[in-house]
Amino acid sequence: MRARVIAVSNQKGGVGKTTTTVNLATALAASKRRVLVIDADPQGNASTGFGIEADQRDHDLYQLLAGSTDYAAAIQPSLVRDLWVIPASNNLSAAEVELSTLEDREFRFKRIIEDVAGDYDYVLIDCPPSLGLLTVNALSAADAALVPLQCEYYALEGLSQLMQTIEAVRGGLNPELVLQGVVLTMYDARNRLSSLVAKDVREHLGPLVYSTIIPRNVRVSEAPSYGKPVLLYDLDCPGSKAYIALAGEVIKQEGIAA
Ligand SMILES: Nc1ncnc2c1ncn2[C@@H]1O[C@H](COP(=O)(O)OP(=O)(O)OP(=O)(O)O)[C@@H](O)[C@H]1O
Ligand SMILES: [Mg+2]
Repeated sequence: MRARVIAVSNQKGGVGKTTTTVNLATALAASKRRVLVIDADPQGNASTGFGIEADQRDHDLYQLLAGSTDYAAAIQPSLVRDLWVIPASNNLSAAEVELSTLEDREFRFKRIIEDVAGDYDYVLIDCPPSLGLLTVNALSAADAALVPLQCEYYALEGLSQLMQTIEAVRGGLNPELVLQGVVLTMYDARNRLSSLVAKDVREHLGPLVYSTIIPRNVRVSEAPSYGKPVLLYDLDCPGSKAYIALAGEVIKQEGIAA
């Protein structure tokens, strides 16, 4: 078995990429899947979300890309059973520039991922908020992109830009890339705009949108400051329940040629 490799991607900042990566990964691991999270954002928020402090990130994705560390050192166990993390340090911001001079610059992640994919059921990559080389590497290495979309007015505009990038990657670097799905995040039932955007997105994308909607929930935003996925911080809160339901939908997609 080779892992399904999913790049959690949206070039728009603050839409819930990291939150979705951390909590979907945790919910998948809770369903007895072996999961590797790759933090591909120099901000390192996914690493923080799993409680991996800055001084524990010396052997990070940047070093793996540079060949100055090995998998045994870079792949860290997390506080979640069956879930491992390749963290990101600040150094990763240099990778964007350094990669650009390398031959095979779009395929550096792919080489790393192919080496380890046999050990996991899922590899989730938390992408930075840009369409630069780190994101292009993630999309080139991935089987699928999973796109969090914040329920707000400009959601659809950003989406069309991302779709063009996915099409471009499919047209050249990675013909196999598919859209795993779009997940609506930070839904606020009291805000009429949230429901209008959700309806609009569903009209445009139909079955590509997961049924599960992630609600805006303060417990979700508190959890990272405790270095924990929300499922470990407060299993019964609406955010945890939503990510468990989302994992259920992702698991249902297993075996279906998406
Ligand atoms: N369902 C939610 N309820 C409440 N707050 C949320 C929820 N999802 C995300 N947030 C908060 O919104 C902010 C942005 O979320 P997150 O960091 O996941 O987005 P991102 O797309 O990864 O951002 P970036 O583009 O900077 O990497 C964070 O402060 C996070 O805690
Ligand atoms: Mg992020």
